[in-house]
Amino acid sequence: MISSIPARFFFLVNAITAAAQQAAFSAQSETLFEFHHPIKSVAVVGAGPAGLQAAAKLVEHNFTVRIFERAPSPGGNWFYTDETPAREPYPDRPIDEGAVIPINLPATRYYEEGDDNLSLEDRWKEHWQPRPVWNNLHTNSPAVITELPDVKYSADSPWVLSNHDIQRHVRAYASFHNLNSNDYQTSSSAPPVTSYSTRVEKLEKLELTQTWRLTLRKLERLPEIGKFKAQWWTEDFDGVVIATGPYVSPHVPQIAGIVDWSKARSDAGEYSIYHSQSYRRPGRYQNKTVLIVGASVSASEIARDIGPYAGKVIASIRVRTPHSEPHPFQLRSLRRFPNTTEFVPEIAHFDPLDVHDHGIKDGIIQLVNGTELHGIDEVCTHRFQEQYCMAQSTAAGGPENLHWTGHYIPDPTLAYTNVRPWTMGKYQSYAFAKVWEGTAHLPTQKKMQEDYDSGKYSFGGFFGTHPSEALFRQYVAWLNNESLKNGGRLVAPWPVKNREVFVYYSNSEWAEGYASLANFTDFEVLPASQWPTRNQESAAAWDALVYSDLSW
Ligand SMILES: Cc1cc2nc3c(=O)[nH]c(=O)nc-3n(C[C@H](O)[C@H](O)[C@H](O)COP(=O)(O)OP(=O)(O)OC[C@H]3O[C@@H](n4cnc5c(N)ncnc54)[C@H](O)[C@@H]3O)c2cc1C
Ligand SMILES: NC(=O)c1ccc[n+]([C@@H]2O[C@H](COP(=O)([O-])OP(=O)(O)OC[C@H]3O[C@@H](n4cnc5c(N)ncnc54)[C@H](OP(=O)(O)O)[C@@H]3O)[C@@H](O)[C@H]2O)c1
Ligand SMILES: *[C@@H]1O[C@H](CO)[C@@H](O)[C@H](O)[C@H]1NC(C)=O
Ligand SMILES: *[C@@H]1O[C@H](CO)[C@@H](O)[C@H](O)[C@H]1NC(C)=O
Ligand SMILES: *[C@@H]1O[C@H](CO)[C@@H](O)[C@H](O)[C@H]1NC(C)=O
Ligand SMILES: *[C@@H]1O[C@H](CO)[C@@H](O)[C@H](O)[C@H]1NC(C)=O
Ligand SMILES: *[C@@H]1O[C@H](CO)[C@@H](O)[C@H](O)[C@H]1NC(C)=O
Ligand SMILES: *[C@@H]1O[C@H](CO)[C@@H](O)[C@H](O)[C@H]1NC(C)=O
Ligand SMILES: *[C@@H]1O[C@H](CO)[C@@H](O)[C@H](O)[C@H]1NC(C)=O
Repeated sequence: MISSIPARFFFLVNAITAAAQQAAFSAQSETLFEFHHPIKSVAVVGAGPAGLQAAAKLVEHNFTVRIFERAPSPGGNWFYTDETPAREPYPDRPIDEGAVIPINLPATRYYEEGDDNLSLEDRWKEHWQPRPVWNNLHTNSPAVITELPDVKYSADSPWVLSNHDIQRHVRAYASFHNLNSNDYQTSSSAPPVTSYSTRVEKLEKLELTQTWRLTLRKLERLPEIGKFKAQWWTEDFDGVVIATGPYVSPHVPQIAGIVDWSKARSDAGEYSIYHSQSYRRPGRYQNKTVLIVGASVSASEIARDIGPYAGKVIASIRVRTPHSEPHPFQLRSLRRFPNTTEFVPEIAHFDPLDVHDHGIKDGIIQLVNGTELHGIDEVCTHRFQEQYCMAQSTAAGGPENLHWTGHYIPDPTLAYTNVRPWTMGKYQSYAFAKVWEGTAHLPTQKKMQEDYDSGKYSFGGFFGTHPSEALFRQYVAWLNNESLKNGGRLVAPWPVKNREVFVYYSNSEWAEGYASLANFTDFEVLPASQWPTRNQESAAAWDALVYSDLSW
């Protein structure tokens, strides 16, 4: 049962297939999307949990694959380093500001300390963007739903793993599939699949060949001559997977006066306001008064980490509009703040500072309810902006107009990893490989767009909720349906035993009844026609979660 497909499921697939065969034959060209030319080579942007899986599947299916990853190692979000990211811009700035690309490619440039007013260290950070994870970060998802295929955790591993465990796990997956930074192909003279320290600067579709051109920039440190070497070049592909992750780029709240305060540094020279992306360790907060802006997951977890050190932790929370009920994750965060945390309302503005080299302790913060806050040592904000597109992507759309498989409807040679990589990534990766090798077919663009616009296949939901369960079902049924018709391996549904652990976890961590085995078991026996869509489900599911004991 655990790794095989339940008999019930076979019936379902066979029944659907038998009924549909004739229709499929007669109307194939009108109902199925056809590619301009066969997809042979695919670029994957990003070597996080999503990109690595997509690449491994595409390699298994004999595509010519290249992964481009701006960081020097695999892991994505989970590549922890003590090195912190470059200072975030104040005021907030959209991420897709154009990269500077030399006119004639390929090109090489050597940088020295201070070129363009940038230190080598900052140039390095700007290139690969160290991750927004801290030393003591632990997962807020249990191990069974934070696991990549092929490299299982041991059966007795704890529910909650440290960021370092996840980092090793993702690295192990990369190594297992020969995609790690020090893995080279042994059998041919082809370059390694993965090019690390390589940022995709631009993505464009070439009209003539109907292929994708990626403009790439690799940065190397040359410590022996005290310089950095940047190389720009282009590579062309038939298909592209964008796996650049949801949380790489910081978002600074647009609070009046924040730009002035962002210039303030402590006597020790450290910025007094910063984004949580730079948070690493609690030691520096000894006896300090720390204001955390926001009260979501980063806020509560950082508050817990610094709580034992800080003199005082204050959290500024935005007032909610009546109809936005707090999500159980936010309620969990509220519960997890240290019990000494003082909650205050939203910040109206920061009064101008007299000096910027003596911290912010003498500064005044105005709250929306008219009260002033004084004596704050540090302000930590946390918010990320979605980062699906790379800098200067000209032809690539955003994550809008995606078929539920992640294919970009206006041009399905482009696909985005838009599901939880740990749980659904393997299905999505297989879907990419099957669609591009021709053993699974997408509907016509018109049909895909209609489905998209109707919201019928917009399975928003998070793991463990009905909408996400519906998406699992959709993937498994569709992939197997297509394999039975066109060839390829069948896939098994998500193991029911994982659900059980997930239910225990979510009951204890989030909200009793957030997910229940009863709900899932009922769901399991529903005929496909009754699988819930997001629109039917979300209202009921969220209604069940409204808490009455909220005091903010
Ligand atoms: C603080 C924090 C804690 C989290 N905790 C959890 C948790 O407990 N459980 C959970 O399930 N999720 C958690 N997440 C979410 C996390 O994003 C996912 O777990 C997961 O890493 C997403 O995988 P991904 O491959 O889609 O993206 P990522 O892991 O973000 O990987 C994307 C990769 O794309 C690369 N990239 C981006 N742009 C370019 C470019 N232009 N060129 C080349 N490479 C590029 C990046 O360098 C990165 O390596 C957390 C996120 C944060 C910020
Ligand atoms: N494993 C872990 O423990 C862990 C730790 C950190 C993050 N994560 C994951 O990373 C993702 C991002 O989490 P996150 O907490 O960093 O970001 P987030 O969930 O986007 O939270 C940002 C918070 O900032 C608040 N905010 C923004 N501007 C504000 C202002 N001016 N005043 C007051 N509050 C303001 C937002 O409030 P509104 O809701 O009103 O917009 C929101 O609560 C999540 O998926 C999370 O699960 C996991
Ligand atoms: C990939 O190529 C190998 C060698 O030709 C072949 O044995 C294998 O079946 C191919 N894999 C897929 C998924 O087509
Ligand atoms: C470098 O900084 C100096 C002084 O701040 C400024 O005058 C100059 O224009 C800057 N140069 C570049 C290339 O940004
Ligand atoms: C923190 O405050 C306590 C009590 O006031 C004091 O004993 C201690 O020395 C302080 N520590 C630091 C690092 O300032
Ligand atoms: C607050 O938490 C600490 C330990 O984290 C505990 O010792 C203390 O009793 C708690 N105080 C209250 C009022 O709950
Ligand atoms: C405003 O909020 C602060 C912090 O929670 C509180 O101490 C103060 O009493 C509030 N002021 C008013 C006028 O409600
Ligand atoms: C299976 O394929 C048939 C024929 O293309 C189609 O009509 C049916 O909707 C498919 N079922 C699923 C679950 O994808
Ligand atoms: C689970 O099922 C119970 C009983 O039918 C229902 O009350 C509850 O709302 C369901 N929970 C979710 C998250 O759907």
